Amino acid sequence: MRKPFVAGNWKMNKTVAEARELVFNLNKQLSEVAGVEKVLCPPFPSLVAVSGLLEGTDIGLGAQNMHWEEKGAFTGEVSPGMVKEFCGYVILGHSERRAYFGETDESVNRKLIAAQKIGLTPIVCVGETLEQYESNRTSEVVARQTSLGLKDIDPAFASRIVVAYEPVWAIGTGKASTADNANAVVKDIIRPELARLFGNETAQAIRVLYGGSVTAANAAEYFAQPDIDGALVGGASLKVDEFVAITKAAAK
Ligand code: PGA
Repeated sequence: MRKPFVAGNWKMNKTVAEARELVFNLNKQLSEVAGVEKVLCPPFPSLVAVSGLLEGTDIGLGAQNMHWEEKGAFTGEVSPGMVKEFCGYVILGHSERRAYFGETDESVNRKLIAAQKIGLTPIVCVGETLEQYESNRTSEVVARQTSLGLKDIDPAFASRIVVAYEPVWAIGTGKASTADNANAVVKDIIRPELARLFGNETAQAIRVLYGGSVTAANAAEYFAQPDIDGALVGGASLKVDEFVAITKAAAK
C-alpha cells in the first residue's frame, strides 16, 4: 500500500509575511486530514518561518530546488545541507527549472544523489513538453528522464523517492491531462522504468504523483486511478480551501 502524498509547490510566490499568513490559515485544517503525507514547498526565504509554524504538526516542508555540491563558490545557490536544516523534502527537476534554468537529466541525477547522501526525500519531476506530446514522443521522453534522472541510486533509498509526472503542457495552463492519460503514462512508462532500475517490488512501492492544473474540482479523478498516488499542486496550493479540498480528496 502506497500512502497518498500531496505537495504544494508555491513556486516564486509569497513574501515571508504572506507565507506566514497562508500557513497560519492552512495549518489547522490541513493537520486534520489524516492518512495523507502533506508537504508545503515555499520559496527559500520563507523556509525558516514556515518550519517554525509547522513545528508539532504532521505537515512536512520541502524546498523547490537545491545544488548538488556541499558548499563553495556557487553564487546564488543553496546546498543540500542548508535545505536539510529546515526541510525533509526537496523538489528536483521541475520542468520550469529544466526550461528556464538549464537543468538536465544529468544535473537532476546529481541532485538526487546529493539528496540520497544527506537523507532528503526527493520529489523528482518528469514530463513531456507540448511539442513532444504532439509528436508522440511522450514515452521516449518520460522514460529517458526517469532512467537518467534516477540512475545510480541505491535501491534501498529508491522506495523513498517520490516521482511527479507533470506534462509540461498541463502546468499552469488550466488544460489538465485526463486522468486516464496520466495513469497510462505512470503505469506503462514510469513504473516499468522504475522496475528496470530498482526491481518490481521497489517500483510498486514508489509513490508517483500527477501534476498540472490540479484543482479541488478535478483532484478526485486522478486519485481514483490505480497508479496515481497523489498530486504536486502549483496554483491551487496558494489557496487554502482548494489545497485542503485536494488533500481531503487524496485521503479518500
Ligand atoms: P499547476 O503547477 O498546478 O499550477 O499547474 C503544477 C506544478 O508545476 O507543479
